[in-house]
Amino acid sequence: MIEIIKRAEEKLKDHPNRLKHVIGVAETAVKLALIHGVDPDKARIAGYWHDTSKYDDIHTQTKDLDTETIERYKTHPVIYHALAAAKSLEREFGIHDEEILSAIRCHVWGNKVMSTLDKIIFVADSCEPNRGFEDSMMVFQLATEDLDQAMIYCMKQSIEHVIDKGKTPSIDQLEAYEYHMEEKRGKTQHTH
Ligand SMILES: [Fe+2]
Ligand SMILES: [Fe+2]
Repeated sequence: MIEIIKRAEEKLKDHPNRLKHVIGVAETAVKLALIHGVDPDKARIAGYWHDTSKYDDIHTQTKDLDTETIERYKTHPVIYHALAAAKSLEREFGIHDEEILSAIRCHVWGNKVMSTLDKIIFVADSCEPNRGFEDSMMVFQLATEDLDQAMIYCMKQSIEHVIDKGKTPSIDQLEAYEYHMEEKRGKTQHTH
């Protein structure tokens, strides 16, 4: 654990705001993990490591990815840093824990089927206090009570943010959001 944290700090030493961000994600994720019954050590590792490939050049980010994956996401290369971080955690530390790796991989867009740790890292990425999003306190509070609701909120915000920048959200991102909205509608119908 200590080695992973040290390496994350080293990788981000020239990007102090990003380092603050990953520390914030790790701390927020640990709090949510304790509330939602997830291993806090896994949350801490995923939080610290999730953005460590962010500033690697595109060749480094894609060196461990297969051709199909590189091709599939070439219009949305933002995802490479997430996929690359999961690969480098395996390569550098021999961590093959699918719960940790999956949470790192899906921190940008979410996914259709998500574990509790996936959801925690996804939400913590948006609501950790150092990122300075104005609604972060509200989102964190919501995540302590209703993690799915907080996740859907963050997914929507993220899609709107992409659109506001004049870009097109990826199909994966839109499908993940739609899937969870559908699931929520299904649940709502069952309870009424
Ligand atoms: Fe990221
Ligand atoms: Fe992040």
